[in-house]
Amino acid sequence: MTNGECVIRLEGLHTRFGRHVVHEDINLCVRRGEVIALVGGSGSGKTALMRQMLGLEVPAQGTVRVFGEPLHGHDRKKLQSMRNRCGVLFQKGALFSALSVYDNIALPMRELRTLDEGMIRDLVMLKLKMVDIEARHASKMPAELSGGMIKRIALARAMALDPELLFLDEPTAGLDPELSEGFVELIQTMRTELTLTIVMATHDLDTLVALSDRVAVLADQRIVALGSLREVVGVDHPFITKFFRGERGQKALGQTGYVMAGDVL
Ligand SMILES: Nc1ncnc2c1ncn2[C@@H]1O[C@H](COP(=O)(O)OP(=O)(O)OP(=O)(O)O)[C@@H](O)[C@H]1O
Ligand SMILES: [Mg+2]
Repeated sequence: MTNGECVIRLEGLHTRFGRHVVHEDINLCVRRGEVIALVGGSGSGKTALMRQMLGLEVPAQGTVRVFGEPLHGHDRKKLQSMRNRCGVLFQKGALFSALSVYDNIALPMRELRTLDEGMIRDLVMLKLKMVDIEARHASKMPAELSGGMIKRIALARAMALDPELLFLDEPTAGLDPELSEGFVELIQTMRTELTLTIVMATHDLDTLVALSDRVAVLADQRIVALGSLREVVGVDHPFITKFFRGERGQKALGQTGYVMAGDVL
C-alpha cells in the first residue's frame, strides 16, 4: 500500500520513556475510512501510540506519517494544521471542568480564529444535536452531567472541526451496557454520514465487535496480530487467548457467530 492510501503510516517506530521501552519496531498503515481498534493489556502502549500519531510524543526511532507527511520535524504551525484535521476523545479528562458544555465544544472552533461567535453558536448547537444532547444542557458545567452525557459531549467536541481522522481512547469505558450501546450506535451513525477514519483503543469487546474493521493487538512492545477480528482471534498468543477466550470474550464473539480455533462445537 502506498503512503497516499494510508492516513497514518508508522514505520519502525520505537517509543521509550527513560529506560522503559514501550514500543519496539511498530509498523502500521491506517487506511482511509476504516475503524482500526488497538487492543492490548493495560500499559501495552495504546494511548502512547495514539499520542505518537498526534505528534504529542516524539519517537525514539522510526517515522510517523499523517496525511502523507512525516510529523517529525514539523514546525508548530504545520503540526497545528494537521491536528485541526483530527478529533480526539481522550481517555482521561474528556472535558475541561472549568468550562461549560458550550464553551468546551466551542473551544477548538475559537482556537481557529476564523469563525465569528454567531457561526460558532450555530456549529455548537449542530454538534450537540448530532450527539443527541438537548440545547438546554449547553450552559451546564461538566460536574452537573452524567458519565454518558460527558462522553457524548466530548465526542461533540472531538467532532467540532469535522475531522477526517478521529481518535477514541476507551470511548465506552465507565459506561453501563445500555449507554455504551448508545454510544456505539452514535459512532456508527457518524461513520455512515461522514467520511471518517477512526483509531480507537478499547478494552470493551462489545465495542470492538460492533465498530472495528481491523484490530491491531499490542503485546511484547509490538503489534503481534493485525487483521479482521476473525483473523486476529485465530492468532496464537497468550494475550489473545486470555482476552478473547475469557467468558466476556466468548459472549461478545458468540453474538457474531465467531468460532475460535480449537473450539469444540
Ligand atoms: N509520559 C510518560 N512518561 C513516562 N511513562 C509513560 C508516559 N506515558 C506512558 N508511559 C508508560 O508507557 C506505558 C504505556 O502506557 P499507555 O498509557 O500507552 O498504556 P495503555 O495501553 O494505554 O494502558 P491502559 O489500557 O491502562 O490505558 C506504561 O507503562 C506507562 O506507564
Ligand atoms: Mg490507555
